[in-house]
Amino acid sequence: MTSIGELRRRTLESLTRPSYSIARKDMILLNDNANLFGVNPAVEELARSFDFARLWAYPSENSDELRERIATEFGFSAEEVIVGNGSDELLDITSKAFINPGDKFCEPAPTFSMYKFYASINFAEVCEKVIRPDFSLDPDALLDERAKLYAICQPNNPTANLFDARAVKRVLSEAPGIVLIDEAYADFAGSNMMGPVMNSGRSIDIRTFSKAYGLAGLRAGFAISSKAVIDELRRVRTPFGLNSFTEAAAIRALDNKQWISETVAKVKSERDFLASELRKRGFTVYPSVCNFLLCKSPVPGPALVAALRSEGVAIRDLNSFPLLENHVRITAAPRPMLLTLLEKIDHLTAGGAR
Ligand SMILES: Cc1ncc(COP(=O)(O)O)c(C=O)c1O
Repeated sequence: MTSIGELRRRTLESLTRPSYSIARKDMILLNDNANLFGVNPAVEELARSFDFARLWAYPSENSDELRERIATEFGFSAEEVIVGNGSDELLDITSKAFINPGDKFCEPAPTFSMYKFYASINFAEVCEKVIRPDFSLDPDALLDERAKLYAICQPNNPTANLFDARAVKRVLSEAPGIVLIDEAYADFAGSNMMGPVMNSGRSIDIRTFSKAYGLAGLRAGFAISSKAVIDELRRVRTPFGLNSFTEAAAIRALDNKQWISETVAKVKSERDFLASELRKRGFTVYPSVCNFLLCKSPVPGPALVAALRSEGVAIRDLNSFPLLENHVRITAAPRPMLLTLLEKIDHLTAGGAR
C-alpha cells in the first residue's frame, strides 16, 4: 500500500513550517511580538454584551461589517478590502491566488519566514535577495523581470527598520507582478504605504490585529488592494473565515483609538528602556520602529536563547538568518517582564552561556 509519505504533496518534501509554539504556559513570551500590554478593553466590554446565544448561526460570509468599518477607517471602499483569519491567512491566499507551479517569488532577506513558506507550498521558485549590510533595500537587486510575486515587510521583521519609501515605491511601480507589502508593524512606525499600494493598482497591503491591536488570540487581519485583486483573493479564501465574535471585536478595537495610541506609546518607552539596558550589557541594539528589538548578543545567540528558555523566558533566535549570526529578537513588554529578562541575562552571562 502507498505510504502517507508517498502521498504527500511534492512541495512538502523539503519544507518544514516554522514552529512558534512554546509548550510551557508560565513562560514570559518575548519571542512572537504580540502585544504584551494587554487586550483592548473595548473587547473585554464586548465579551460582556455579545449575543453568544446567536453562535449557532454562521457569521457573515465575507465579514461585511468589518470590511465596511475598515474601508471607512482608511478611506477605501469595502470592495477593496478582504479580511483574513490572522494576516497569515492573507499571506497564504495571496500565493494560492497568483502562483502557478514554477512562478518566481522574490523577497528581500532576512524577513518574516512565512512568505517563502506559503510561496513554496504553492510551487513557487523562491528567490531571496539579501539586503545591504546596513539593512537597507536595494530595489535593483530585488527587481526581477521573471518574478510573479514579491513580499516586502515594511517595517521589516526582524531588522526592525523601515525601508526607504522611495525604494519600496520603485518596486511597486516597476515590478511586473504582484507586490505584497506586509505592514504588520506599521502602527508602531506611525507611517504606512497604503496610498502607494493603492496607486499601483496591483499591489496588496496587509495589516494585522495581532500586534498594536492586542488581538493575536482572536486571529484577524485585513488586506487592501484594487477590487480586481481582492476579487481574485476572495476566490480562494474559505467562506466564513472569521468567526462572529472576532469580527465584532475587531470593529470595537478599531473604535477605541485612544487605547491603541496609549499602548503604542508604552511599547515605545519600554522598548527604548530595554535597548539602553541591553547596550549596557554588551549587546549591539539596532534602531527599531517596531514593538521589538533586534540585537546582536555578546555571547553565542543560540546558547543565550536556549538558556533563557530553560529559565522561563522565550526570545527569538535569528542565528540562521542571513546577516544575523548571533542575533536575537526581543519583544517590548511591561517593565516587570523586562526586569526579569535582564536579571536572567545578568545571571547567565556572568555564569556562562558562552
Ligand atoms: C511581519 C509579520 N507578518 C504577519 C504576521 C502574522 O500575524 P497574524 O497572522 O497574527 O496576523 C507576523 C507575526 O508575527 C509578522 O511578524
